[in-house]
Amino acid sequence: MKTKDVPEKWVSVPLSRAVRLISHGPLVIVTTAHGGRVNAAPVQWNMPVNDDPPLVALALDAGHFTTQLLRQSREFVVNVPEASLIPAIQVLGGRSGRAGDKLGPAGVKTEPGRRLGTPHLRDGLGFLECRLRAIHVYNGVCLWWAAWFTRRPGGRNSRTTA
Ligand SMILES: Cc1cc2nc3c(=O)[nH]c(=O)nc-3n(C[C@H](O)[C@H](O)[C@H](O)COP(=O)(O)O)c2cc1C
Repeated sequence: MKTKDVPEKWVSVPLSRAVRLISHGPLVIVTTAHGGRVNAAPVQWNMPVNDDPPLVALALDAGHFTTQLLRQSREFVVNVPEASLIPAIQVLGGRSGRAGDKLGPAGVKTEPGRRLGTPHLRDGLGFLECRLRAIHVYNGVCLWWAAWFTRRPGGRNSRTTA
């Protein structure tokens, strides 16, 4: 098909913005902790990759403080925010925890982890406590694969065995 024959309903998208066509999943806030430091960062590039065992993948810049803490603790929490956390998301996504605590300035509170040493956010729709299973690094981007804890039918909490 020649360019002039392209139907008008198609709009050309700049390459730098094309990722938005496939980046429409829920934004999450990832909490991490290690050596007395607790951190939180918004992460848009997250996705479930399996349900049994439950697995989640995150794409994170290798330079993020979150990435450093995650490498050290090998665990993190995926927090599902609600709309009231939008101002906090702007703060958490606008600076690095490497320079100092940003949870205080963001006004977010945490609660101790249920199964992990990593706390989760006190407010929000829910959270998944995740243990790291594998890392793939390409060109400064780390793809993290992790299994989360689940409450299985029957009522007993059990750890997944990915
Ligand atoms: C809405 C939003 C979504 C983001 N999604 C991602 C993401 O998927 N992956 C990533 O590496 N950084 C993402 N970021 C950028 C980090 O959250 C940001 O650089 C943060 O300051 C990193 O903090 P840290 O150094 O304390 O880990 C996002 C930021 C915002 C505001």
